[in-house]
Formats: sequence, structure tokens, C-alpha cells
Amino acid sequence: MPPARFDPLAQEIYALKKQLNAVILAHNYQVGEIQDVADYVGDSLGLAQQAAKTSADVIVFCGVHFMAETAKILNPNKIVVLPDKDAGCSLEESCPADKLAALQATNLNFWTIAYINCSAAVKALCDVIVTSGNAEKIVNAAPKDKDLLFVPDENLGQWVMEQTGRPMTLWQGNCYAHVEFRRDALLQMRTQFPLAKVVVHPEALREVRELADAVCSTEKMITYCQTDPAKQFVIVTESGIIHRMQKECPGKEFLCAPTFDVMKLPSDNCRCSECKYMKLNTLEKVRDCMMHLAPRVELPEAILKRARLPIERMLEISARPLANVG
Ligand code: 13P
Ligand code: SF4
Repeated sequence: MPPARFDPLAQEIYALKKQLNAVILAHNYQVGEIQDVADYVGDSLGLAQQAAKTSADVIVFCGVHFMAETAKILNPNKIVVLPDKDAGCSLEESCPADKLAALQATNLNFWTIAYINCSAAVKALCDVIVTSGNAEKIVNAAPKDKDLLFVPDENLGQWVMEQTGRPMTLWQGNCYAHVEFRRDALLQMRTQFPLAKVVVHPEALREVRELADAVCSTEKMITYCQTDPAKQFVIVTESGIIHRMQKECPGKEFLCAPTFDVMKLPSDNCRCSECKYMKLNTLEKVRDCMMHLAPRVELPEAILKRARLPIERMLEISARPLANVG
């Protein structure tokens, strides 16, 4: 892959990558300059699939902590580093393992489905993991005689229930960034840009999802914008994704959905949504974590072993042809 950037910092990163036999995986919400030095940029599912098949000795995970943990669970013998150890997630925080275990104890017939946005300790308590890219397929494949418990995103859970018709008990967690999108502000965008297609991440509130032309994971959003004939799109997710959209959909225009009532702000204020955790990572921190091989993801042996089962189940169901699901 030819280097996307020629500045000295990017050059240092490319040299370290060669020296360490490292792979750089980056989420779609990372700043553009990190995306440009990465070997792979994608959604949580794509990143887990890449981590599962890499032959690199070191995985540099540019995303948030639970994503790097997933890479470590799939590669217990490899070194996994992340640029900033404080890059957390409000969904992960909302669901401590001890509280989940207490809820599970109230119904021994629960089949626990966890959105990948949770800690390794929570994954170790679950039957299967989902991402926004495969949640519908995996819930459709869940055993019919079980009571489904979905953690920790109530909005994604609600959307999956609508798609599959399977009732589920929902954990009351949410993504602090996606619940900021407002229906009234989006309606104003629709009036202002009547030809634009509205693309929404399923972590958004139902009243916002109802206004969407498409509800999907970040990777599917990119495919949708590439293939749909529209020339303008309103993007209802974290603004980092616009970088890839602009690169991969030439001639199209992408508008960030406003996170609050547009009328209340002076017109030169930015209203894009940013995840404060994703944005902790910088190109300097990517270089530093490769130079020092720290911060490193380390997990207790028992968690590594147990959390691997539901992740592998997810990868296996994800790879099945649709006809074999359910
Ligand atoms: P995707 O898997 O759709 O990229 O979502 C990850 C995420 O954290 C959304 O907020
Ligand atoms: Fe977590 Fe929301 Fe940030 Fe995604 S955007 S990492 S769900 S806080």
C-alpha cells in the first residue's frame, strides 16, 4: 500500500510498522490522519474479522478500548497496543459485569446477546456477541426456546426487535453521542435538503431512526452512499466517518446531522457529533504506542478463554449464508 501521507510522523509510523511486523487497524470514527496510515479501516465487525485473521506480531488498535480487547481475545499470544488507554465507551460503562450477572441469575432461561461495545468481563458472561453490522442475522439465529436478554444498548436492541420480531429484555444503556441527535433538527435538514438521503446508525433514538432512508452500521453506510444514486447524504453518526465517505464516494456531498436544534445556534458553529473517546487518539499517540509497545491490552487468562466463545460464535454465524440462519 503506498503511504497516504509523507510527513515525518507518518514516515516514522511506517518504519515502526515494518520493524515490529505490526498491523494498524482503525475504526471509521478515527481522525482522517490515523485512517490514512492504517492497513484497514472499518466497522466493529470488519475490525474483529481482520483481527481474527492477521499474521502480524503486533496489533495497533486505533479505536476504543473494548475493540482492542476483542482483538486481544482473538489473539492472546500477540501484543495488542492502543494509542490511549482511556478511550472508553459510554455503553461499556453502563454495563458492569457484576450487575449483569445479578440480572442473569433472575432467569436461568436467559440467552444473553451482547453488543460488542462492552467489556471483556461482560463478553465472558454472554452466549453470543453482535455488532450493528450483524445483529439482525445473529438474533434471527438465536435458539427459539430461550428468553433473549440484549445488553447494553437499548436503542440497537429495540431496532433489532423491530427487524426480527423477537422479543428481548433490554439493558438500559445508550451511546451518549448517538442519543444527542434530535428529530426536530433532522426534520429541518430534510426540508432544507429535500433530495438528500438520510442514513442513521441504529444507536440513535427510535424517533430519529424513523426519519431514515437507511439504518445501518458504519461500514454499510459507506456501501449505501457508494451505491445509492443520490448526490447528497445526511449522516447521522460520528463525524469521523465523513473522511472515508469523501474519499470513497467522489462527486457526492455529505452533511453531518446536527445534534441539537439548529435554530438555536449561530450559523458558523459546528454541530457535528464527535465521540470524545474515539477522538482521544492522535497520530502522535499512534507513533508513541508503537515505539513503547504501551499501553498494552492484558486480560486474565479465564476471561480471555471464556470471552472467546461468544466472539467466535458471532464470527461463525456472520459467515453463514443467509439461508442457513435461524
Ligand atoms: P459500528 O460497528 O457500526 O462501526 O459501530 C461502532 C460504534 O461504536 C458506534 O458508535
Ligand atoms: Fe461508544 Fe458511542 Fe463512542 Fe461508539 S460513539 S465508541 S458507542 S461512546
